[in-house]
Amino acid sequence: MQFSTFGTKFSQHSGITQLMDDLNDGLQNPDAIMLGGGNPAAIPEMIEHFTHLSQRMVEDGSLVSALTNYDGPQGKSSFISALAKLLSDTYGWPISEKNIMLTNGSQCAFFYLFNLFGGQYDDGSFKKILLPLTPEYIGYADSGLTPEIFTSFKPTIEHLNNRQFKYHVDFDALEIDESVAAICASRPTNPTGNVLTDEEVRKLDVLAQKHGIPLIIDNAYGVPFPNIIFEDVTPFWNSNTILCSSLSKLGLPGVRCGIIIASENIITALSNINGIVSLAPCGVGPALAQEMIKTGDLLTLSENVIKPFYQDKAQRTIAKLQQAIPDSRFKIHKAEGAIFLWLWFEGLPIPTKELYQRLKQRGLLVVPGEYFFIGSELDWDHTHECLRMNYVQPDELIERGIEILADEVSKAYAGS
Ligand SMILES: Cc1ncc(COP(=O)(O)O)c(C=O)c1O
Repeated sequence: MQFSTFGTKFSQHSGITQLMDDLNDGLQNPDAIMLGGGNPAAIPEMIEHFTHLSQRMVEDGSLVSALTNYDGPQGKSSFISALAKLLSDTYGWPISEKNIMLTNGSQCAFFYLFNLFGGQYDDGSFKKILLPLTPEYIGYADSGLTPEIFTSFKPTIEHLNNRQFKYHVDFDALEIDESVAAICASRPTNPTGNVLTDEEVRKLDVLAQKHGIPLIIDNAYGVPFPNIIFEDVTPFWNSNTILCSSLSKLGLPGVRCGIIIASENIITALSNINGIVSLAPCGVGPALAQEMIKTGDLLTLSENVIKPFYQDKAQRTIAKLQQAIPDSRFKIHKAEGAIFLWLWFEGLPIPTKELYQRLKQRGLLVVPGEYFFIGSELDWDHTHECLRMNYVQPDELIERGIEILADEVSKAYAGS
């Protein structure tokens, strides 16, 4: 059977598909140690909260109402109004219900955005999405309707104490010309746990405004929810920013709710795309989140339960890794947010794609770093020396995983 150009591109096995396959296989195999995928942790307080919340909403009819009705293509308007008020009250941003729309997960939002701005234009030009700092989120990699939609730059590396490091945007190298249609960065960053500093965001905003292009900030782990961010940085939005949030890392990946906050004309354009692609976004997540805004639980649980849970777990996992792998060539990116640790094995004699296979043979799933260097063919050893692991699993599984990792890394360094 022959497929169209679109069909051929999108039916290929991509990095993100491998990741989701592994996640699913692992869920079927009770012995697998799943440090690969991005499923949020099953935090007992959050599970209990969602259980009680959904029971209450079954009783008052609001859950069944969300299940049995379509919303408009912009998404559930009562939730959008409540969120607009929350954001303008909390941050003073000039946001109304005309600045927010919903998608079926923020993954879907990025597909819309990258293809709204990137690709072929009527005047014959071809425009790209600039990732100012790779490694970046693997889920962007294959989302262009046309190939080669991204262009990116490698970061500078700041070496920190205690075998840690931090990436920074290399503003001296960053080039923006008329072929760039938008800038995009995740903050906190998946896979590294990096958080762009206020200064970096300000500079990216200035560059975006200077070139008349939007700055897309992927806020899947950011504030005000789920608030998996351990640095004291300032939330950022203005009318040239497209801020993308999600209910997934709050603990609700199954409701597939992405949230876009942008200028009115972009919200109108994206709502029209939503109508064509999916009629309307799912209303169940917005119904739950609206209730959590009403009770105040959305912000208090994010601040008092979700953030401390991940922060504590990140620090404990780092300590275990450093103890298990004392080699000075092993370094960890400073954990500033998100749900992953980014491990760097400097001078590793095998690429991390090979290390990934060896670990998988032993029942440990991580993600090899190569996938995250999107948008450029970097001739840089570093791209083969890193891997991403999540730290959301129970401690005993993480410990077993670290044991296997330490063993395989020491074999690899020893040349076997
Ligand atoms: C940085 C980042 N952006 C976007 C997404 C997409 O999340 P969802 O489609 O569940 O909202 C993820 C998921 O892991 C992510 O890590």
